[in-house]
Amino acid sequence: MNENKPASGCPMHAAAPAGDAAGQWHGAQMDFSNAMSYGDYLGLNQILHAQHPLSPNHNEMLFIVQHQTSELWMKLMLHEMRAVRAHLRADDLPPAFKMLARVARIMDQLVHAWDVLATMTPPEYTAIRPYLGASSGFQSYQYREIEFILGNKNAALLNVHATTPEFPLLQEALHTPSIYDEAIQLLARNGLPISEARLNADPSLPTQADESVQQAWLQVYGDPTRYWALYELAEKLVDMETAFRFWRFRHVTTVERIIGFKTGTGGTAGVSYLRKMLDVVLFPELFALRTAL
Ligand code: HEM
Repeated sequence: MNENKPASGCPMHAAAPAGDAAGQWHGAQMDFSNAMSYGDYLGLNQILHAQHPLSPNHNEMLFIVQHQTSELWMKLMLHEMRAVRAHLRADDLPPAFKMLARVARIMDQLVHAWDVLATMTPPEYTAIRPYLGASSGFQSYQYREIEFILGNKNAALLNVHATTPEFPLLQEALHTPSIYDEAIQLLARNGLPISEARLNADPSLPTQADESVQQAWLQVYGDPTRYWALYELAEKLVDMETAFRFWRFRHVTTVERIIGFKTGTGGTAGVSYLRKMLDVVLFPELFALRTAL
């Protein structure tokens, strides 16, 4: 006999397994009045009471949960990315590789998450749009920090955060060398000739392609056995950028499917703005070298 099988067929009235006293279940702890529970540990009260639809529309919950879960995954990505940057600076590559692989998988997951949002139809979105005001993912400070830590620096975009508590954090992120800046310093420390201009480049400016960096990566790709760790790093960076490109692409195609060519709530032209962002290349030499190889 299956001892877990509910006597009535209803899970709410499941019989306790033989030997369990009434109100007990497989020896599981039931009383958390004096102990930390699952919900306590995870702060579920805060998280699960942070959804406040403003419209009467059923579909607004999807819109809110999709954004909130994306922000949670971005939080984890930033946690990993900041650690990657520190490990690269310390010439400690194995943990950096592990974290870069995790970041790429998180991005893959966010790419697939667009499938859920794509179930929202234009009339469903139109019903909630008036309630969104001027709020937009454009104001996501975590997203901006991710762009900055990957080297897509743009000081003008700080203005939207100027009056928020996150402003100092973003300012610091703008002026801190990116993961890619650290990878290039690593190339130099490994004896590959990198121009002084690149090594001393202002970290608050967007990444500019540099001939000496391309030559260095070419040397790495030309002799992987000798430069295995750098070769692996390069491919992990390419993985990460590729996953990020997919995210941008799915964002713009989902947005087009839902709002067409209407302007964004954040004030940009919408899809045409997002399409321009598809042209951003985070690690230019790593992609350019593929043509040269
Ligand atoms: C129906 C759903 C969505 C629509 C219609 C939409 C639309 C847009 C539009 C039009 C923009 C350009 C800025 C603006 O004028 O508002 C934008 C930017 C942005 N959205 Fe979405 N979006 C949606 C869902 C999401 C989700 C789920 C996320 C996840 C966090 C997200 C994150 C972002 C980010 C980070 C930007 C800034 C991109 C950049 O500056 O490169 N969006 N969105």
